[in-house]
Amino acid sequence: MIRRNNPLIIYSFNHYKTIIKLKKYFMTTSQYNPKIIAHFTSPHNVGEIKDADGVGEVGNPMCGDMMKLTIKVGRNKKDEEIIEDVKFKTYGCAAAIATSSMVTDMAMGKTLDEALKITRQDVAEELGGLPEIKMHCSNLAADALRKAIENYRSKG
Ligand code: FES
Repeated sequence: MIRRNNPLIIYSFNHYKTIIKLKKYFMTTSQYNPKIIAHFTSPHNVGEIKDADGVGEVGNPMCGDMMKLTIKVGRNKKDEEIIEDVKFKTYGCAAAIATSSMVTDMAMGKTLDEALKITRQDVAEELGGLPEIKMHCSNLAADALRKAIENYRSKG
């Protein structure tokens, strides 16, 4: 008779779970287009602005991924407030990192009002589309940008 807590069975079960996780990872990764992979492997604007004017921090409660985005606000020739510099730090999946990188590219140089209009859909489209199961990951980037701008404006 096979005991329920037989270490071999437990090992096999854990091994099976690992294989399923790896399979999911590679299936998802293979759905990423070259633009997403490029932003994931060489992300733009990584880091943190030391004397940032605004900070936005968000987390995804479903997976535990986190993003911190910092902005420096300047002015353009029309004397409108613009995002002069933006940097991010993301602890997350490939899609979270690629969307973080893309949102910083999209926001750089925009007026605050223009940057506030960037949606997660815009970020995903700019990346050439995300796999459906990864669409929620683009929330982090758009939300962190919005929070950083709100944080700046809340300081008056
Ligand atoms: S799985 Fe967590 S943000 Fe992508």
